[in-house]
Amino acid sequence: MSDITLHLGQTLWFSGDPTIAGPNVAHHDSHGGIVIRDGYVLARGTAHDLRREYPQALVEDHGQALILPGFIDAHVHYPQTAMIASWGKRLIDWLNTYTFPEEMQFGDAGYATEIAGRYLDLALSHGTTTMCSYCTIHPQSVDAYFMAADARGMRVLGGKTCMDRNAPDGLLDTAQLAYEDSKALLNRWHGKGRASYVITPRFSPTSTPEQLSALGALWAEHPDCLMQTHLSEQTDEIAWVRGLFPEARDYLDTYETHGLLGANGLYGHAIHLEPRERDRLREVGAALVHCPTSNTFIGSGLFDMAGLVAEGQRVGLATDTGGGSSFSMLRTMAAAYEVAQLRGVALHPSALLWLATEGSARSLQIADRVGTLAPGSEADFITLDLRSTPAIAQRSTRAADIWEAVFPTIMMGDDRAVSGAWVMGEKRA
Ligand code: GUN
Ligand code: ZN
Repeated sequence: MSDITLHLGQTLWFSGDPTIAGPNVAHHDSHGGIVIRDGYVLARGTAHDLRREYPQALVEDHGQALILPGFIDAHVHYPQTAMIASWGKRLIDWLNTYTFPEEMQFGDAGYATEIAGRYLDLALSHGTTTMCSYCTIHPQSVDAYFMAADARGMRVLGGKTCMDRNAPDGLLDTAQLAYEDSKALLNRWHGKGRASYVITPRFSPTSTPEQLSALGALWAEHPDCLMQTHLSEQTDEIAWVRGLFPEARDYLDTYETHGLLGANGLYGHAIHLEPRERDRLREVGAALVHCPTSNTFIGSGLFDMAGLVAEGQRVGLATDTGGGSSFSMLRTMAAAYEVAQLRGVALHPSALLWLATEGSARSLQIADRVGTLAPGSEADFITLDLRSTPAIAQRSTRAADIWEAVFPTIMMGDDRAVSGAWVMGEKRA
C-alpha cells in the first residue's frame, strides 16, 4: 500500500481569480490540511475531516504555519544569479556592463552546472518550486538547468536565449543556429520528466528579422510550447526598436510579423504599451509577466496591473533575477504592492498570493498541475511561518483575520518565512 501523509496547518485556496473577483473567492481554514499520496494531492479539507477520513495517514503538523502551493516565478534568468544587485545602470548599459560578460561564462559547462544548482537551491529555500528561466546562448546552459532541476524533481520551464546581433561575439548565434539549437534542445527536453522547453528570443534588439522568423517557424511547428521574450521594458529600448524595425507599427509588431505572438506567448515587463499592443495582446490571450523588483531596480517604470487586469489581460508575477533584486516571491509581491500604490491602487493580499501561485501557473499554462493544491495536482507546496522575525511577529500579533496575519509576511518576509518546501511530496528545503 502506498504511503499517505497528512500535512496540517492553516490553509488558503481560491475558487476564482481574486484579482478580478476580490477576496471572497479565497477560502481559509485555520485548522486545515492536505493529504499527499505518491507525490500528488489526494484531498484538501479541514484537519478534523481529514484526520477522520485518513486515519492511516502519517501526520505532519505544521501548527500555525500557512500551507500554500509553492511559488511560481514566471520570468527569471538563472545565469544572472551571481551578478544580482549590480549597481548603477539602466537596461541597455546594465546588459552590456554586467549581464553579457556574466552570460559569456556559460560556454563552460562546469560553470553552468554550478550556477544552475546554486540558483535552484536558492529558489527552493525562498519557496519557489517552479520557474520559467532564460538560459544563455549556449546549449550547455540549457542542459545544465534541466539536469539540475531533474536532480531536484522540480517542474521547470526554460530555453536557450537566442541573439544574433547587438551583443558581444561570444554571445551570438545566427538565425539558422538559433533554429537548429532550439529544435534539438526542444526535442531533448520538452516533456521529459517535469521539464518544458520554451522558445526564447531574448528581445527584438538582439535578433535580426531573420532570426525572429526562424524562431516563429519553430513555434509554428511546436505550438504547444511556450515562447518567452521581453516587451516594452524601458523607453530607450522602445526607441531603439523603432530604429531597428522602421516598418513595424510598434514593438509588439516586431514579434507579431515574425510569428511570435500567441496565447502561449509570455511577454516580460510590458510596461510602456501602446493601445494597439494592449488590444492585440488581449485578443490573442497572451500572458504579460510583471517583474516589479526589476522594474524599480533598473528604473523601468510602473506596470499597470489594475488597468491590464480590468481589460482582461492574463498576468503572471516574476522576480526577473538578476535584473530583479531578489530571489524571493514574497519580496516580489511586496514590490508589486508598492508599484500599484504608486499608481493609486492597493492590491489585496489575496490578489498578491494568487499572482505568485495560481496566476503565474496560469500564465505558464500549468495550473492544472501546480499552483493550486487542488486534489489531483502535483504536491509542490510550502509552509510559511507568519511570525518569522521579531518585527513580523509583533505586527501579526494584532491581526484580526488571515489577511492581516499574512500581509506583514508579504511585505517584510524573505526566505526566513519559508519553513519548508516540498516537491512532489518530498521535502527539499
Ligand atoms: N531585456 C533583454 N534582456 C534582458 C535581461 O536579461 N533582463 C532584463 N530585465 N531585461 C532584458
Ligand atoms: Zn528578463
